[in-house]
Amino acid sequence: MCGIVGYTGTKDAFPILIKGLQRLEYRGYDSAGVALANDGLQLYKCKGKVVDLQNHIGNGTTHGNSGIGHTRWATHGEPNDVNAHPHFSMGGNIILIHNGIIENYDSVKKELVARGYIFKSDTDTEVLVNLIEEIQKSENCKLSEAVRKALNEVHGAYAIVVMSEDEPGVIVAARKSSPLVIGIGEDGDFFLASDATPIVEYTKNVVYLEDGEIAEIVPGQELKLFTEKKQKVTPYIQELELHLEELEKGGYDHFMLKEIYEQPRSVHDSMRGRLSVKRGLVHLGGMGDYEKKMLAADRIIFIACGTSWHAGLVGEYLIEDLARIPVEVEYASEFRYRNPIITERDVVIAISQSGETADTLAALELATRKGATILGICNVVGSSIARITDGGSYTHAGPEIGVASTKAFTSQVTVLSLLALMLGQAKGTIERSRFHRTLVDLSVIPEKIEAALQTDAIVKKIAAEFKDARNFLYLGRGYCFPLALEGALKLKEISYIHAEGYPAAEMKHGPIALIDEEMPVVVIATKGPSYEKVVSNIQEVKARKGVVIAVVSEGDEQVKEIADYTIEIPETEEMFAPLVASVPLQLLSYHIAVMRECNVDQPRNLAKSVTVE
Ligand code: F6R
Repeated sequence: MCGIVGYTGTKDAFPILIKGLQRLEYRGYDSAGVALANDGLQLYKCKGKVVDLQNHIGNGTTHGNSGIGHTRWATHGEPNDVNAHPHFSMGGNIILIHNGIIENYDSVKKELVARGYIFKSDTDTEVLVNLIEEIQKSENCKLSEAVRKALNEVHGAYAIVVMSEDEPGVIVAARKSSPLVIGIGEDGDFFLASDATPIVEYTKNVVYLEDGEIAEIVPGQELKLFTEKKQKVTPYIQELELHLEELEKGGYDHFMLKEIYEQPRSVHDSMRGRLSVKRGLVHLGGMGDYEKKMLAADRIIFIACGTSWHAGLVGEYLIEDLARIPVEVEYASEFRYRNPIITERDVVIAISQSGETADTLAALELATRKGATILGICNVVGSSIARITDGGSYTHAGPEIGVASTKAFTSQVTVLSLLALMLGQAKGTIERSRFHRTLVDLSVIPEKIEAALQTDAIVKKIAAEFKDARNFLYLGRGYCFPLALEGALKLKEISYIHAEGYPAAEMKHGPIALIDEEMPVVVIATKGPSYEKVVSNIQEVKARKGVVIAVVSEGDEQVKEIADYTIEIPETEEMFAPLVASVPLQLLSYHIAVMRECNVDQPRNLAKSVTVE
């Protein structure tokens, strides 16, 4: 979704802003712009990518020691040059960038129009910048005060950054429900961004703005924070754990491929210090404190969206199997609007890579109001979900830049496996020998993922055969059913081929009608309790001339005889099959997308972090 960058200090702002916007490209956007303060405010913006913005600027003046930049993912108004941010106020002396939605923009706009304001764009953002100008004019106050008063008049979600021609070098920033990070440089300069990725190469000292906080940033001075009610806040400075090399492609053609290949390490990092085979122990720090609550809970409810929801489904199977606690898995966007029954005896766990997904955040707020204990499983350290939950665990997958989630999924499943084992051990629902065996099986998953990566060449060949298919079906049973959903999602989102995931046995209840020689069917047929049943499902597909691509356990002979293509991966305990079998599915969608010349890391219409509801 929209990305925000800002800089004020003694350096040349333009290269910092452009580089920052490039770092934020992974979030997904359709237009870009920058404004520089240099003897007045200089604005450049256009529809398209950052490179289009650079071309548009050409040899234009880009001097200035402070400025703001934006990548826009359209919500109000189509993506075009006029709707791109930053937006000037009508008088032309205030300029603003915004991530989020001003919900009452229509009524505010009507009032401003009645006072003579003329609007150039279709955006809610232009309404806010004019409101700030109107307040400043009528009250003759500082920019920060006008921003504060304006924010008291609007509702919705926002992160905003504002500059005024009358206060050179000063930046005012604020947030409510949309993230904003302020980096504090060594030379009294400041960096702002929607997440820490544009900041990390300049400073590790950051302040995450909290909801309802406003920052007045003046180079060379201490950072001033206050609330919308004008109360002073002492900035809480944190040290970033992010490393610059994690944000580079490191020799891979795409971030997605790099992230697929990082999984042996990222899954290992998700377990590090949390699992000891020698001591027969599993411990998840931030979750452990809520162990008793979870054991006594009526239900554990996972809330999530997209890939994280698929991880939640695996989590349901794991926890019900190993710890015998009832689990429900909810789409955050449905949960919050359907008046769900939640009590203080429920534990609600949000699963989110970004920790910023608007629907997931809103669902957590609802659960809090109903008295449930709320926990989080997030990847991004310091993210909103991580901060509003009572406790939780980070997945420690490292930054995920490719829009299609890969390593975040396997790390989420790893943390959920640890959680299920921890709860099962505490509750005594896993007998000792099974617990020990399972612990050993989980501990060697990174090596098995490494081996699964060796399927790359064969997967690439299969991709070449099917790159022009119009539809795909993905089938799996038990723990591999969520993986069928995830495999189909990966293909849809980056290659734009229609794909559906189904529980293999459900096929008979409808989707089997789709099967003919044109329909590739990916079946996850690894060894496990439902293996024979899956083999029967493959027979059913073959009997209708479907083309079967089967992911099987090493050495499998039975499926090899009937499937058209097989991809062998190391055998593993059924519950951990999603961790290993996800690798060839990720690679299949990756290669197909590359062969179709799709933008793998930034697929059309998609955003990495969905900060609007
Ligand atoms: C798919 C994908 C999305 C996200 C979803 C939730 O590859 O990345 O479906 O999983 O938008 O995002 P988070 O996990 O950040 O809450």
